[in-house]
Amino acid sequence: MNKQAAVQANDRTRAFLIAENETLRTALRLLCANGRHVVFVVNGGRLVASLSDGDVRRFLLAGGDLDADIGKAAHFKPKFLFSTERERADAFLAENRISAVPIVDEGMNVLDVVFMYDIVDVGAVAIREIGHGDLGMVIEFFDQMAGDTRAMFNRGDVNRIRVIEHVNRKGEDGQVHFAATVKSEDGAEKMVGYVFLWDVDKTIPWLGIAVREDWKGHHLGRRLLQHIDDWAKPRGYGGIMLTSVPANIRAHSLYARMGFEYFGVYPDSEFLFIKRYAR
Ligand SMILES: CC(C)(COP(=O)(O)OP(=O)(O)OC[C@H]1O[C@@H](n2cnc3c(N)ncnc32)[C@H](O)[C@@H]1OP(=O)(O)O)[C@@H](O)C(=O)NCCC(=O)NCCS
Repeated sequence: MNKQAAVQANDRTRAFLIAENETLRTALRLLCANGRHVVFVVNGGRLVASLSDGDVRRFLLAGGDLDADIGKAAHFKPKFLFSTERERADAFLAENRISAVPIVDEGMNVLDVVFMYDIVDVGAVAIREIGHGDLGMVIEFFDQMAGDTRAMFNRGDVNRIRVIEHVNRKGEDGQVHFAATVKSEDGAEKMVGYVFLWDVDKTIPWLGIAVREDWKGHHLGRRLLQHIDDWAKPRGYGGIMLTSVPANIRAHSLYARMGFEYFGVYPDSEFLFIKRYAR
């Protein structure tokens, strides 16, 4: 990579760039480390090719050698966008059915890579209370939910309606809602997790929790439940309860790990879990 490009491409982007004279073995290590199934091959910082997991697999299956040059397996007509076209990156990814697109300047230097999905960095997450002004962020979070999440978490759209009312409320409503958020490089906040308590005027409030689709399985759920403990315990609550559909095995394993106990089937046919706080 030339010096100018090294200055322009940020640290995150550099994790996806590999020099043309490297071997496939080195590329494979980079693919494993970045976890994104694709790297972009550069010559002096300029984009020359793309190399995906699939390209490497096909090359190896055809008898290729891991110590061969990247060029033997790479794809030399990579899809890219100029920085002036960046705004249409999401549509471009969808139209081309690809998961990442490099953004280049007029000299073809790679400046950035835009992904279909977020890079999951749980360390960068902040958890804060949801309040006035958060409606757009909250609605976007509900809109990205896949069908099974809606079925498990938001049947009848009840939770969406409640949080919208909460954001727009004038006084107290006996609820507290928290968002786990990350900030993009332009400072925009995005919601990656959500946890709420209803009936905070009772001894044992009701809890609901959901994690953004592409952030599931990275222990953000655990962190959100820890956040609730940290909020509720010092306030003297007796515990937290929730109900969950019987098929939600993933959530149940999380609850068990976080100290919730199964208390049987609730009248709405869901499983009842309670976590009691020692007094
Ligand atoms: C349930 C949910 C909040 C968990 O969030 P998460 O960030 O993925 O959870 P975590 O990564 O902290 O923990 C998930 C645990 O379940 C385990 N798990 C994942 N898939 C699993 C599966 N198919 N079967 C059993 N356990 C599973 C994980 O290994 C992890 O356990 P670990 O701590 O030993 O690694 C999230 O999956 C979600 O939003 N689901 C849809 C909405 C929902 O169901 N909400 C709850 C309604 S009651």
